[in-house]
Amino acid sequence: MRLDYLTIFPDYFGPLELSLAGKARDKGLLDLHVHDLRKWTHDRHRSVDDTPYGGGAGMVMRPEPWGEAFEALGVGEHDTIVFTTPAGARFDQRKAEELSGRPRLVFACGRYEGIDERVVQRAREIAQVEELSLGDYVLNGGEVAALAITEAVVRLVPGFMGNAASVVEESHADGLLEHPVYTKPASWQGRDVPEVLLSGDHAAIAAWRRAEAVRRTAERRPDLVPRPSLPGGGELRAAVPADAGELYVLQLACWVQEMHDNPGVAIPALHESYDDLRAWLPEWTVLVVRREGRLVGAARARLEGDAWDIGRLMVAPDLQGQGLGRLLLTEIERSAPPAATTYSLFTGAGSLRNQRMYKRAGYRLRGEIEPGVVLLTKPRPGPTR
Ligand code: ADE
Repeated sequence: MRLDYLTIFPDYFGPLELSLAGKARDKGLLDLHVHDLRKWTHDRHRSVDDTPYGGGAGMVMRPEPWGEAFEALGVGEHDTIVFTTPAGARFDQRKAEELSGRPRLVFACGRYEGIDERVVQRAREIAQVEELSLGDYVLNGGEVAALAITEAVVRLVPGFMGNAASVVEESHADGLLEHPVYTKPASWQGRDVPEVLLSGDHAAIAAWRRAEAVRRTAERRPDLVPRPSLPGGGELRAAVPADAGELYVLQLACWVQEMHDNPGVAIPALHESYDDLRAWLPEWTVLVVRREGRLVGAARARLEGDAWDIGRLMVAPDLQGQGLGRLLLTEIERSAPPAATTYSLFTGAGSLRNQRMYKRAGYRLRGEIEPGVVLLTKPRPGPTR
């Protein structure tokens, strides 16, 4: 694989000369070239940037040096130009795998407010193009991102890693975070290695590792947890502040029926204002279901002591009875942190349909905790904790 770096800070790529490139180069797997972009400037100041058209803060990288560099380096249709930019698509392990199979990557490392957009347009005419971001934060330039992407990609190039199995087993390889790992001694500072790992029972070890990977992923990266397909289509995901307006309308629509089923009972969901909802939204784990752009279901939960307190389970009146509520309940239960040992929820004493659904899901009625309001609980199953 050939790697080129276009940058105004070639020294940034010194680390490439160390472990990574050294090893890969010796094995004949990598051919590395770092280029100072200023080589393709022609003015006295060797300037690569100018003020943005349309105004605004900062400077923008001029197109000419980039265009000349692509030409001088003979970048062609089999090559991939990687623009590292906070405005790119999120770089991940799947992308690393994809890039590890390409013959040549040319990293275009932008600085300042970015590169003139026509450079990307030109790049698309002559080569494959990827605009990639390391994450939702802004670095001072694309060099560190190019180094990080290089390391993630190069270690997947066949022949680079000594132990191919470790690439398969590590975090993100199967879409989950990796399970915790231990080595000798078996006991350290009063902490013991989990017994199952010392058992020699390979099936039990594999099952424990899988369960730990799922638990860790749910706890630290709920966005990575594979979501089940929804009855009737649509997507289930964590709520964002922009959902608040639709959530408020859906909540009112759903709790009007509750009011009829529970005459005389004060129902908070019907009395709170839009601002109240916006205030509680970030304080709860909230899942929403969207179908064809429309918000059609939601549920929220948070930890109260050791109980995962579930509430505001709602499905649009026209879509009830299709299994969406049950699915939301399962998913909000799965979002519980490790500290939760029970699930609890409240509903109206007169909301018999809700109670039937909760009982089918394993909840038991614990009695009326205030006039017209009943509590239901369910122990959290052990093995998933
Ligand atoms: N350049 C500046 N910020 C970046 C980021 N988050 N990812 C990739 N390149 C960048």
